[in-house]
Amino acid sequence: MRDLFRSLLFLAAVFLSPGSTHAQEWPESEINRKIDSLLSIMTLEEKAGQMLNLGMPALLEGAFYIPRDTLIFDEEKLDRLLISYGAGSVQNLGSYPLTPEEWRYYVGRIQKHVMDRSRLKIPILYGIDAVHGANYTAGSVLFPQQINLAATFDTGRVRQAAALTAYDVRASQTAWNYAPMLDVARNPLWGRIYETFGEDSYLVGEMGAALIGGMQGTGFYHPEKVIACGKHFLAYGEPHNGKDRAPVFITEQMLREIHLPPFRKAIENGLLSIMVSGASVNGVPSHADQWLLTDILKEELGFKGVIISDWGEIDNLINVHQVAANEREAVKLSVLAGIDMCMEPYDESFAVHLVDLVRTGEVPESRVDDAVRRILHLKFRAGLFDDPFFSDCEYPEFSSEAAAALSLDIATESLTLLKNEGDLLPLSDVQVLVTGVAAHSLNYLNGGWSRTWSGQDTSYNDQGVPTIYEALQLQLGKDRVSYVPGTDYLTEIDIQKAVVQAQKADVIIACIGEMPATEKPSDIENLDLPEVQVRLVEELAKTGKPLILVMVQGRPRIIREIEPLAGAILMAYLPGNEGGRAIANVLLGKSNPSGSLPYTYPRYSGSIWTYDHLLSDERDVYFGLNGFTPQYEFGFGLSYTEFNYSNLAVGSDTLVGDDELRLTVELSNTGRRAGREAVLLFVSDELASVSPPVKKLKRFTKVELQPGEKREISFVISAEDLKFTGRDGLPVIEDGYFTIRIGDQQTRFYYRTDLE
Ligand code: BGC
Repeated sequence: MRDLFRSLLFLAAVFLSPGSTHAQEWPESEINRKIDSLLSIMTLEEKAGQMLNLGMPALLEGAFYIPRDTLIFDEEKLDRLLISYGAGSVQNLGSYPLTPEEWRYYVGRIQKHVMDRSRLKIPILYGIDAVHGANYTAGSVLFPQQINLAATFDTGRVRQAAALTAYDVRASQTAWNYAPMLDVARNPLWGRIYETFGEDSYLVGEMGAALIGGMQGTGFYHPEKVIACGKHFLAYGEPHNGKDRAPVFITEQMLREIHLPPFRKAIENGLLSIMVSGASVNGVPSHADQWLLTDILKEELGFKGVIISDWGEIDNLINVHQVAANEREAVKLSVLAGIDMCMEPYDESFAVHLVDLVRTGEVPESRVDDAVRRILHLKFRAGLFDDPFFSDCEYPEFSSEAAAALSLDIATESLTLLKNEGDLLPLSDVQVLVTGVAAHSLNYLNGGWSRTWSGQDTSYNDQGVPTIYEALQLQLGKDRVSYVPGTDYLTEIDIQKAVVQAQKADVIIACIGEMPATEKPSDIENLDLPEVQVRLVEELAKTGKPLILVMVQGRPRIIREIEPLAGAILMAYLPGNEGGRAIANVLLGKSNPSGSLPYTYPRYSGSIWTYDHLLSDERDVYFGLNGFTPQYEFGFGLSYTEFNYSNLAVGSDTLVGDDELRLTVELSNTGRRAGREAVLLFVSDELASVSPPVKKLKRFTKVELQPGEKREISFVISAEDLKFTGRDGLPVIEDGYFTIRIGDQQTRFYYRTDLE
């Protein structure tokens, strides 16, 4: 009875006070007061329940993974999981996309169950993977994947795309998004590279901060914003054998130098939740790593948000990582390590074990209180205590024309021209053959996480969206464009037919690529392009017709042998639904490409390097045997116009203490078209107590110039940019010379710590 009275008092306090204001107007102290009073009346079971994140299928009739075309809630499961065990969070569906109305109904139905029947009426926090647009909502605008965003080197566009994505996600009754990926992709074999911002730590950090800003906004709660979730902590992008979730072996120095900075930057920019990596680092699974999650993330980086485990990864501590004997021990390890919410999609077992562990004193209740405090805070920040049903909100701009236009813009801007011999591109009045596995497929353009998890099911493709073939037809006219598939991903369809058709064309456009996939199914055995696709290109080249290679792929697949056969090469990555139009626009010269590679494109499958390797990796100082000969370097990308760099200058030849150094360079468009150029500033430390990388990206900007236009670009750097992680794991700066490189320009300056 007393509990009931206190609950009522609490609910009155939460929903009615102060006045009729919304959570966005409450000061932090007020929120904390509300959380304190709620915590004080919660039972241990209710707290453990808040820490449970279920998959939506766990609440439906039938087994978790049965294929479904309608969703029917199972009343017994709703009662058991949401009320008896009090699960505080539900996520995803993954098997097919729902319309915004359906999402509103289904999430609303779950919410209603909790609001009607639970004792404390703490709203559910629903989460989803909206990683390139609201990809699980039917009819939403599908943006290019993250790797394309990175290739634009344009943080402004990334922020806008994130804001429009947040809007569509909110319109789908969801306040929590498992994005962005802040993993630094250091191994090109890894199938999730396309979900990242590429191989450079600084680029990932800048892009991540922009995306988080666009998605979360700066204020408290806003009905058009969602909570971001940076993932996957930490070093997931460096699987030692290139397989998804493979162990990571790395020095602490490199862990801090490469993988930590994007998370640090994201936290400084208000990131509210973080998902843990399913891999292990130096033998310790991250889900059981107290040093990583508590000592570094919560204490050193001061992260105040929620740490959520990845899908089923606490259970994986048992049979996959072999560090826990059973589920109970796995729960204990992970909660003690610092995990606040458990993504245990299938059932309530996590909560049951946790209650028992607290009762026996193996997990202190204070650890549980800390986790629940963080979770409740997130729910306040999401505005759920204000309006759990988003009933005050309307989303007339769902899937707006503006969003589609931005998606096209970003897709276009990301396209990276890698070769253009004799100005083969842009094409004008020509007869073309379009062929290859990616030529006539929306799924290939979108990749994984597109309407379904794998992105392979064609039945949910958006209607009226042109593939590359269709977009070319729309622009050139049907009679100018012929299409023969040639191959599937791994098998031949009709290569000879493509060759015959090629004889009749002026130009061949071969669209090679990778089948949509993510996570484990995206593992490959080597980086070589599938043999059949290589053969298609070789056979087509024998016709002697000019050949353009369009690469629709998340990873840089090896093209060394077919590269000389192509007059032009366009890297499309996974440009999303607008990719067909964007590619046609670039091939036909309506748009000028301006993407730059966000990773090193290897020449050999067995020669895998990042651009910021060590000089000792090259070893060419004595023998001239430099092994660093990638197909294309990080940052490379051509344009239909010419850019010329000149007059790189430093404001002073010595930088002292905490002063700033201004750097300027002149950029001219010496070609005949307007164009955009990513200007990248690299710094090289010439001498350091830990072998320095040959160069490191420290600043970038995207500039648009008209033909004949010249502009001075300036950057400011300081000692902060010259620091590196020392042998003791701490940031250090050492006196000495630093080389600056922008375009083909180079200069140097001296850094001195002391002031006299
Ligand atoms: C993936 C995460 C994703 C989660 C929820 C996991 O398997 O690794 O990136 O957010 O599933 O769908």
